Amino acid sequence: MATIVPYTFEKKEEQAIYFTSFVKGMKVLIATEKPFAKKAVDGIVEILEGAGHTVSRLEKYTDKTQLLDAVADVDALIVRSDKITCDVLAAAPNLKIVVRAGAGYDNVDCATAKERGVVVMNTPGQNSNAVAELAIAMMIFMSRNCFTPGTGGEIKGKTLAIHAYGNVGRLVGCKGKALGMNVIAYDPFVSDNSVFECDGVEKVDSVEELYRRADFLSLHIPATPQTKGSIGYNLLTSMPKGATLVNTARKEVIDEAGLKQALTEREDLKYVSDVAPECCSELCECFGKRYFATPKKMGAETAEANINAGLAAARQIVEFFETGCTKFQVNR
Ligand code: 3PG
Repeated sequence: MATIVPYTFEKKEEQAIYFTSFVKGMKVLIATEKPFAKKAVDGIVEILEGAGHTVSRLEKYTDKTQLLDAVADVDALIVRSDKITCDVLAAAPNLKIVVRAGAGYDNVDCATAKERGVVVMNTPGQNSNAVAELAIAMMIFMSRNCFTPGTGGEIKGKTLAIHAYGNVGRLVGCKGKALGMNVIAYDPFVSDNSVFECDGVEKVDSVEELYRRADFLSLHIPATPQTKGSIGYNLLTSMPKGATLVNTARKEVIDEAGLKQALTEREDLKYVSDVAPECCSELCECFGKRYFATPKKMGAETAEANINAGLAAARQIVEFFETGCTKFQVNR
């Protein structure tokens, strides 16, 4: 029985010796309730088997017990939004690494993984373009009355406000500019102003100013204890007349009571979301074409994004077992 792998080493040589001992023959599970495109799975298998590992798949599972059973003897896991909670980690005593093929890792209990010596990684940037394209599509969809008859509006000339200027936010901004939008952004974690300057995007200094000026507000903040429920009534009602909040981030960052109140009081506001909030049926009933949500998260649902993120995940696992590389680790 393999022991749990520590991932901090006193000396580089120790790390090298440790990893050399199990370069090959690791059991890797692809656990995806929402499966990757076939081409992505084929590519993942090719990379991992080519490096001497074995691959098993658990796709479209409907019950957590299936996941608990499947992880029992695995050394590595590739997942999407699959919930890797403490009981899943406990059911996988050999587990050494979890790679979330995608950006957000709020679905993985990173703290428990760390306690158990399990490395958690993501694959930043690999599916960003797909999400950015969806955000733009959602703006046009809402501007055109959800593609129902009636006079709509154009996005050209409108102010596109980007909340968090990371991989996705930046791509949304560039696409918005190409479509003739006036792009502004807020991100307190990007201290290098040249990032905004070289994109020709105006950096604003406060979240309040961002919302106050946004005809379209594109949300790209991660779901963390600090951000959950942070977008609510005050920010929403500060938006200009006819504004649309576009959420391709996480439903949890919205204060749903505040959202409902804002949409009730302001008959011009709109909300569009990639994945339905808890209060979806109520919003559908009360706000008609001012509200739309995808039934299942679809931002990264393109073959290209699946291939980019899936193959990156496979390569990161191979490198981890071959060299101990933890470049994309998110639970240090
Ligand atoms: C991400 O965080 O990368 C996106 O939300 C995509 O998630 P998915 O892989 O579950 O589609």
